[in-house]
Amino acid sequence: MRTRPLKVALLGCGVVGSEVARIMTTHADDLAQRVGAPVELAGIAVRRPDRVRAGVPAGLVTTDATALVKRGDIDVVVEVIGGIEPARTLITTAFEHGASVVSANKALLAQDGAALHAAAEQHGTDLYYEAAVAGAIPLIRPLRESLAGDKVNRVLGIVNGTTNFILDRMDSSGAGYSEALDEATALGYAEADPTADVEGFDAAAKAAILAGIAFHTRVRLDDVHREGMTEVTAADFASAKQMGCTIKLLAICERAADGRSVSARVHPAMIPLSHPLASVREAYNAVFVEADAAGQLMFYGPGAGGSPTASAVLGDLVAVCRNKVAQATGPGESAYAQLPVSPMGDVVTRYHISLDVADKPGVLAQVATVFAEHDVSIDTVRQQGKSGEASLVVVTHRAPDAALSATVAALRGLDTVRDVASIMRVEGE
Ligand code: HSE
Repeated sequence: MRTRPLKVALLGCGVVGSEVARIMTTHADDLAQRVGAPVELAGIAVRRPDRVRAGVPAGLVTTDATALVKRGDIDVVVEVIGGIEPARTLITTAFEHGASVVSANKALLAQDGAALHAAAEQHGTDLYYEAAVAGAIPLIRPLRESLAGDKVNRVLGIVNGTTNFILDRMDSSGAGYSEALDEATALGYAEADPTADVEGFDAAAKAAILAGIAFHTRVRLDDVHREGMTEVTAADFASAKQMGCTIKLLAICERAADGRSVSARVHPAMIPLSHPLASVREAYNAVFVEADAAGQLMFYGPGAGGSPTASAVLGDLVAVCRNKVAQATGPGESAYAQLPVSPMGDVVTRYHISLDVADKPGVLAQVATVFAEHDVSIDTVRQQGKSGEASLVVVTHRAPDAALSATVAALRGLDTVRDVASIMRVEGE
């Protein structure tokens, strides 16, 4: 074993960082054996030293993150600050000073992943970020390494625990969105400002990262079509149940059928109860991967929290430290395929549409004509009368999203359609 220790700078010491520091200290001997050299925590940069948790070595704490990454003797920088700045500048500075970087920063990687990978490559260092997507669940490494010889066609996942908890509560108790959100907040799943989770920003960043790796193509956050789940109602769940489905906020990354483009999107969708993702309860995450040779794979586990996220960070830390010992680097960015990312309008999907219509002769024919005019084929129609009005539930076959949304717009224009009560995509069939 090499005796000179590898020195690690930790940027951020909140829920995840303090757990990383604790495991590095308590498992130091095992980590040294696995790496082939001692791994030493050399400094911890925090914004507020008065808030550093018990058990974190106080003598290592500094408020000067820039000076820490510029020290010259740091081999690996672990960034668990989050956000774009100062994380981006600190990571770039770390590369310039020869350090490899382990990051849990999904927002930064989804926005600037290509530039960061280029900087790492330029300086002969590593950039690893298993913790950026779905906490403890190994996903980046399986996609980047284990499936490197296969052709991934689809990645379909529940990658946000907060929203899965809320939707699961709505499904199991019949609660509305606000009530379920209140429960998620009281239990500590939802943050005081839940926007990033419930509006799908968090899941969209993860979708961009997954799509980029799965399809060997640059996919940025701006390329991901995003719809949140705040509009999902108890009535939507009732409709889903009638179809033998539940509702999940899904991140969907797909290769088009002709193989010439890819897409990435986040939105609520109905999925059949028989689909493995339907049984993912509470705040768990799961990702379903479909590949040519491997077939269908499912990755499941805790997608957030201090310990699970620290597990992923530590796995990366061991990997980049091993590379340092071997004086090598691991796989960098693979974006050679350069496939165009399709707009949402071109994505092929299915709609479940609930309409309140006048219950009189010719209405069904009128509605069906609108679908036909937009070249959207109807799969099933269910009608329920209620004193002069009827509720009509139409489920379509697969069609381009633009045709489906144009159909809905035209339906809204019909005198006989009183309301388009709900529109939900149907996935996973
Ligand atoms: N807020 C995220 C979630 C975890 O609820 O899954 C961090 O990405």
